[in-house]
Amino acid sequence: METIVSGIRPTGNLHLGNYFGAVSNFLKMQKENNCFFFIADYHALTTHPKPGDIQGNIKQVLAEYLACGIDPEIATVFIQSDVPEVFELYLLLNMNAYIGELQRTASFKEKIRKQPDNINAGLLTYPVLMAADIIIHRATKVPVGKDQEQHLEMTRRFARRFNSMYSVEYFPEPDAYNFGHKLLKIPGLDGSGKMGKSEGNGIFLADTPQDIRKKVMRAVTDAGPQTPGEKPSEAVKNLFTIMSVVSDPATVKHFREMHASCEIRYGDMKKQLAEDIIKFTEPIRERIISISADNRYLAKVVAAGAERARESASKTIRDVRSIIGYKPF
Ligand code: TRP
Repeated sequence: METIVSGIRPTGNLHLGNYFGAVSNFLKMQKENNCFFFIADYHALTTHPKPGDIQGNIKQVLAEYLACGIDPEIATVFIQSDVPEVFELYLLLNMNAYIGELQRTASFKEKIRKQPDNINAGLLTYPVLMAADIIIHRATKVPVGKDQEQHLEMTRRFARRFNSMYSVEYFPEPDAYNFGHKLLKIPGLDGSGKMGKSEGNGIFLADTPQDIRKKVMRAVTDAGPQTPGEKPSEAVKNLFTIMSVVSDPATVKHFREMHASCEIRYGDMKKQLAEDIIKFTEPIRERIISISADNRYLAKVVAAGAERARESASKTIRDVRSIIGYKPF
């Protein structure tokens, strides 16, 4: 059994790409491991210093994860800002994190370009806070996408540095969680690239059936194959990829054959795809609505989660203080 930590920034609604790329794996992972899933609401401040409705954003993400099947009875589900122990570890790790390595981090360099008017120290030390999130539970595995690999590498380095600085074997060096197969990337509906929050090419779990039909019918396709057996274009391949996760195999096979024989009508394929997406998302959307309306339940979930997370975190802080040499007289 591994101890797994995963943080989710509360910056937007979950889309199909999030579901099939990450959340569906969390559902399997939580059964066999000691999982900590938290909402990284402090990390959100590095890019959104005045977040507006932060509570609403947190609640939305939380309700969506729970609606997908993250089970707070077996996983520890909590909000980062409910566990102050992490800031103490963040501060201590900052003493051994070097300006040079932080400035060289790819995500920092990207943020400098994207928000030149707000190059705050929180951005610079983002990887330190993330490392604290992870090692405070002495995690051994972290499910990360490509964009977070460098942060995980730095987490390992900070853990190793702490161990060697104080001559202890205290923090494990966490590895990327291996899903055992290639990570599934869900493409967007615009014919290129992956589904994203900001790209405007996504289908969200909270979308209504009308939204979904409209989006799918507008998806980019092409004029259809001119010669039998011609390979699908990028845009059409994308539709098949989405279809392969929501439709039954016979449906996918049918449209593949229609494509291969140049008989395909993309209008028909899209109608089918929209209905299959709706069949998949509708029960989740209904649960999102009912869970969001149940403030008492949400409050109970995060209170219980914070209690469990603080129990684990405060033990680490006690150990770390003693390792560094902070002791009572
Ligand atoms: N940086 C992560 C992201 O943007 C979010 C995150 C914060 C995280 N702390 C974490 C992920 C700890 C895994 C573990 O997606």
